[in-house]
Amino acid sequence: MPSPRLRALPGGSAVRTRPAGVLGGSPLTRIDGPADALGLVSQDMAAAELALRDLVVSDVRAVPVVSSYLLEAGGKRLRPALTALGARAVGFDSAQLPRLMCVGELIHLGSLLHDDVVDGADTRRNRDATHKVYGNAVTILTGDFCLARAVLLASESGGHTAVTELARAVTAMAEGEVLQLQRSGDLSASLDEYLELIDKKSAALIAWCAAAGAWAVGDARAADALQRYGRSVGVAFQVTDDVLDYRAGTGKNPGADLRERKLTLPLLFAMERDPQLLADLLDHEPTDAELPELLQRVRDTGALDRALAWARGRVDAGLSELDVLPESSARDALRVLGRYLVERAA
Ligand code: IPE
Ligand code: IPE
Ligand code: MG
Ligand code: MG
Repeated sequence: MPSPRLRALPGGSAVRTRPAGVLGGSPLTRIDGPADALGLVSQDMAAAELALRDLVVSDVRAVPVVSSYLLEAGGKRLRPALTALGARAVGFDSAQLPRLMCVGELIHLGSLLHDDVVDGADTRRNRDATHKVYGNAVTILTGDFCLARAVLLASESGGHTAVTELARAVTAMAEGEVLQLQRSGDLSASLDEYLELIDKKSAALIAWCAAAGAWAVGDARAADALQRYGRSVGVAFQVTDDVLDYRAGTGKNPGADLRERKLTLPLLFAMERDPQLLADLLDHEPTDAELPELLQRVRDTGALDRALAWARGRVDAGLSELDVLPESSARDALRVLGRYLVERAA
């Protein structure tokens, strides 16, 4: 019998009746920060929000229920915003834009559904994580639906190069997640290894989102520049997310990375200053009781500010890539948005 703690789905139970055999923000429709920069694409963002709801519709009624649970919980909608601004910066003004903007958010949605199962996360976007509400199996399969739906959408709204590049980005994300899983508890990775991992798991998709409009209009030079911008600010974004693991109020459980002994830039910097931290973490996985003190020890080393300063450097490098694009308010807005990705944690 399915666990009574899981919520019922239309069409019947969608949990395994036998063991699988393996171990098992407030609702925002736009980024809550650079309002002026995003004002430029506010109509596009509203249209994309409506389109997203349609895109998770399926005859299999459990699919929209599970996907909407996470979709309607909000999120920053960073990826659609990047696609909108990148597209406007290269003069893409087709009626397809809102749908092109949904590609990155649907991939993101699928990857979050998967990631919370992999990470055993309890909360996401200020709600219980989807797998806690509906179970692992249907959460993973709905994640697959979102990924596949996004590929179809990219082919309809972005064209051949955009689809090819999307396949590359999603491949990189899967590789990054597997690498992270394998390295959990291994605190010996170098800075370069950590950077390679976050480039794959997070920056690859952010770069795709920034460049999608340029591929759609066939402007390879602009696509290269926007992709390089996206990779740099995407790495900075993930470093900032790793800093935010040390703060409350993100809609996720603070300390989740540290509890898993996941190597992140703040932890790497903290261990340089406090070598005993490395020894203590290697000794055993932190318990709930030990976690607050460990979080404070990392903060006390100044590692969070140092990681943010490092991320600012990556943002600056990313913004300079935009110089080859023609001057426009969309290009300016990409700069504002890039800075915000780090300043949101300052
Ligand atoms: C969280 O991404 C996952 C990472 C790649 C760090 P976001 O911080 O963009 O999550 P939402 O969409 O706002 O919830
Ligand atoms: C999420 O990475 C990246 C992807 C979903 C591919 P994390 O596991 O670091 O992100 P959060 O902290 O759960 O959002
Ligand atoms: Mg996670
Ligand atoms: Mg993860």
